[in-house]
Amino acid sequence: MALKITVIGTGYLGATHAAAMAELGFEVLALDVVREKIEKLERAEAPMYEPGLEELLRKHVAGIDGSSGRLRFTQDWAEVGAFGDVHFVCVNTPQRHGEYACDMSYVDSAFASLAPHLHGPALVVGKSTVPVGSADRLAAYLAAHAPAGQDAELAWNPEFLREGFAVDDTLHPDRLVVGVRSERAEKLLREVYATPIAEGSPFVVTDFPTSELVKTSANSFLATKISFINAMAEVCEAAGGDVAKLAEAIGYDDRIGKKFLRAGIGFGGGCLPKDIRAFMARAGELGADQALTFLREIDSINMRQRGQMVELARQALGGGSFLGKRVAVLGATFKPDSDDVRDSPALNVAGQIHLQGGQVTVYDPKGMDNARGVFPTLGYADSALDAVRGADIVLHLTEWREFRELDTEALGEVATARLILDGRNALDPERWRKAGWTYRAMGRPKA
Ligand code: UDX
Repeated sequence: MALKITVIGTGYLGATHAAAMAELGFEVLALDVVREKIEKLERAEAPMYEPGLEELLRKHVAGIDGSSGRLRFTQDWAEVGAFGDVHFVCVNTPQRHGEYACDMSYVDSAFASLAPHLHGPALVVGKSTVPVGSADRLAAYLAAHAPAGQDAELAWNPEFLREGFAVDDTLHPDRLVVGVRSERAEKLLREVYATPIAEGSPFVVTDFPTSELVKTSANSFLATKISFINAMAEVCEAAGGDVAKLAEAIGYDDRIGKKFLRAGIGFGGGCLPKDIRAFMARAGELGADQALTFLREIDSINMRQRGQMVELARQALGGGSFLGKRVAVLGATFKPDSDDVRDSPALNVAGQIHLQGGQVTVYDPKGMDNARGVFPTLGYADSALDAVRGADIVLHLTEWREFRELDTEALGEVATARLILDGRNALDPERWRKAGWTYRAMGRPKA
């Protein structure tokens, strides 16, 4: 008999995972404690903007015309417990308010709600990003609180999906990593990830702590790459070099690779910043804090980029204050193809300039509602053209494709000055310069 899957938590990770499991042919029941999320999902509406996700939901959500009907939603824990053979826990683990450590309260309450309903053999699979040691603790919790006792087992299976590519990353992962304590758990997970999902994807089987650490160390490595190239951008800026050429040249070395070497205003979002901080906090608890002191530097290089962008803008405007200056900001989300503004470098730069007296107008293709929610006092425009109208300077802060394809001539006609700063090193300088714009980017030559 085919396995039945439940997914607990329907944010970026859970909604995508649930839809992907239905796509693979499983019957899926997903739970979220937030009623509105469930209601949206029942209408096959994604809780956030994620390319391809709504198509997948329409294909599988029960009650939608022509769907497979394999994906259903509930708020009833007893129904989840009775339905599933494998329960994926996909709730978020944000940074604790005012601290570096990760907030485990959503994970803990998911386990507390689920455990009493596990009456028969079941595999609970943690996918959330957690501090190392959590799986050991949660396994003990399950053994003590699930009526099925040892038959309710735990596995850890970190998720590496990127926002903007969540569907594709889930259906075609670079690798699958599973932390298990028994052959039965491994066998069940191999069954879940049987073709096509695991076709060509390495399947790494390991213990609990290693599986937890794979996720935090992968994110730390990615953050390190970005801060490394941003540090090189600072040196290039001082020495008159070109960080884009430098990144291209070092990237030809296979050992270094080309990816994640785009200098700019740095990383943000719901994962990299909080994951490296939680990792440092956990290492401290384990007495291994010295091993990760470099991450403090990675974090501070990253945060410095935002201030440097503000300073570059101030200098470009003549070096005085921002008072009376009109600043157009293209991009509010932390990356393109997402409506996520959590810890967004773009919004941070826009906010700093606003607080220093600049008259800031922001445009973003998908992030406007979320940006307005976080920063209601900024100005907002409905298009790039409207944002740029009357601007003394244009800041390109999130590299949406739409911005790469902008009509540089038309923008030039509505701007007060043809001055653009590229905070993502993603525009073609020649295209802008040809239309009479002064183009500047951090770590790149002035002309
Ligand atoms: C990240 C990891 O990539 C993913 O594997 C993990 O599961 C979750 O965290 P995500 O947060 O979606 O994914 O964003 P990512 O694509 O990694 O980008 C993070 C940030 O780094 C963005 O703000 C992006 O603009 C920035 N970045 C990325 C750079 O500044 N330069 C680069 O070269 C690459």
